[in-house]
This record gives sequence, C-alpha cells and structure tokens, in this order.
Amino acid sequence: MDTPMDGDRPVEGALQDENDSRHISRRPVLRAAIAAGVAVPAALMGVPALARTIPSTGGTLELTPECDDGDDPTPPQTEGPYFKPNSPLRTSLVDAGTVGTRLTVSGYVFGLACAPIANALLDFWQCDNNGVYDNTGFKFRGHQFTGADGKFTLQTIVPGLYPGRTRHIHVKVQAPGRPILTTQLYFPNEPRNNTDTIFDPRLLMTVRNVGTGREGLYDFVLNVPQTTTQPTGPTTTTTTKPPGGTTWTVGTTYTTGTSVTYAGAGYVCLQTHTAQPGWEPPNTPALWRAA
Ligand SMILES: [Fe+2]
Repeated sequence: MDTPMDGDRPVEGALQDENDSRHISRRPVLRAAIAAGVAVPAALMGVPALARTIPSTGGTLELTPECDDGDDPTPPQTEGPYFKPNSPLRTSLVDAGTVGTRLTVSGYVFGLACAPIANALLDFWQCDNNGVYDNTGFKFRGHQFTGADGKFTLQTIVPGLYPGRTRHIHVKVQAPGRPILTTQLYFPNEPRNNTDTIFDPRLLMTVRNVGTGREGLYDFVLNVPQTTTQPTGPTTTTTTKPPGGTTWTVGTTYTTGTSVTYAGAGYVCLQTHTAQPGWEPPNTPALWRAA
C-alpha cells in the first residue's frame, strides 16, 4: 500500500540525478517544431497536439531565439519510494482489461541546443486507477527509447490519486552515456496541484481529451551540451529577433498594447501582467492576441 507521501523520501540508490534547480521556463511542444526546422503557422500555434503533427524532416536543425539559450533543462524532482529498476521494455502499459481512462503521453527529448536526442532512455512508473503502485510486479512500469527523431510515445492510463499527492507520472530520462534526470509529469487543472508541495508547473503536460481517452504532451530538455551545424556560425545570444517587438520572456511585466514575438510569431498584450511559465502567448488568449 501507499504511504501518504512518496515525494519527500530520500532518493534510493543515489542515482546520478541532475540537480539543476535554476529557475527556468519550460517551453513545451513548440520545441518539436523548432528542432525539426518546421515553420509553425500562427493558426496552429496553441493546438495541443502540435508536437504530434510535426513530421520528422531529418534536415538541418534550425535554432531560434526560443531555443538557443541553453539554460533551461527540465527540472528534476524526487524519485519517491516506488521506483523499481529493470522495468520491462515496452511502450504500452495497458491491455484490453486494464481499468482506467486511456492516456497517451508523447513528446520529444532534446539537449540544450534543442536538437533531438536519439536513443534516450525513458523509464516510466505510476500508480494504477486506484492510486496503488505495484511494488511486487511491474504493472504500470516500463521503459523505452526515443527514435532517431527524439520522439517517445507511452500508452497508459490516467493515474489515480492517493493521499498527499496530486496526479502525477514518474519518469527517468537519460541520454546515452549521460546522467539520469529523475522527474515527474503533472496534469493541468487538477485541484491538488495547488496544495502539493512537490508540484512544479514547469512539469505540466499539455493534455486534451480525445474520444474517451486523453492525450498528454511533454518535451524533455536534458542538460546535455550539443553542437549543431549552423550555416550562420556558432550560437550566440545575439540572434536576430523577428519583427514585432522583443521576445516573450518569463518574469517580464507586459503592459497592454506591448508587442512581443514568440516562436517567430507576433502578439499584442491585451492586459497588463507578469509572464509566468505556461502563459506563453499562444496558450493565453486572454492575455495575448496574434498581431
Ligand atoms: Fe508517486
């Protein structure tokens, strides 16, 4: 049975977790398009399943101001007490008889230069529909590797709730030969997100309902240095900004009427506010309109 909290126990095994606790922003989904060098039509921005619709071009990667700052890896979180090594190699944790709302979690694994990482290991574990972890077997446990395009897809269920925590999925992510990132993924609009002291909004998936199930999207950024072939030379912080104003940045206070750019598109601020992670212009139509 579960103990009330699985998040504040010591990390077992002292794995080589990354411990970068810098305050950083998560830039989800659009990274997929960015890394693939695909122009993102403004009409598509904010569509939750965008990452799933981006084809793999295999072409030269193209950095943008959103993707070259090299300081925003996915934050680590505690492993909790329920990790078990040697999970099965599989991308689906469900079968026909599995009880629970079907959930597909997919996304990409990137390095610091936002280039996709192939053959990255992802080891997922979660509780069942009733909030119980399988500590004797391997139900709702499985590992997989990203494809050549850095993409992963997991078939599972929406995990249940248990005392002391909000809804979450545990995962370890590791680029070949690199340290392990241990973290957790969260669901938006969960009442307990506000009271769970471990919860981190930077780890929120983008989730939508699809038929009777749900789809979650999340892109991991590992603290892995990358060099990319760039026709314009090495990456710098002086990348030319697209027209339309400064690049949208977390922590900046924007006043009504201010113009910014985000992922190459322009937006105009509709009401004064301070930008927070997750409040990217395409995700907050109450705050921004397309220019
Ligand atoms: Fe847990």
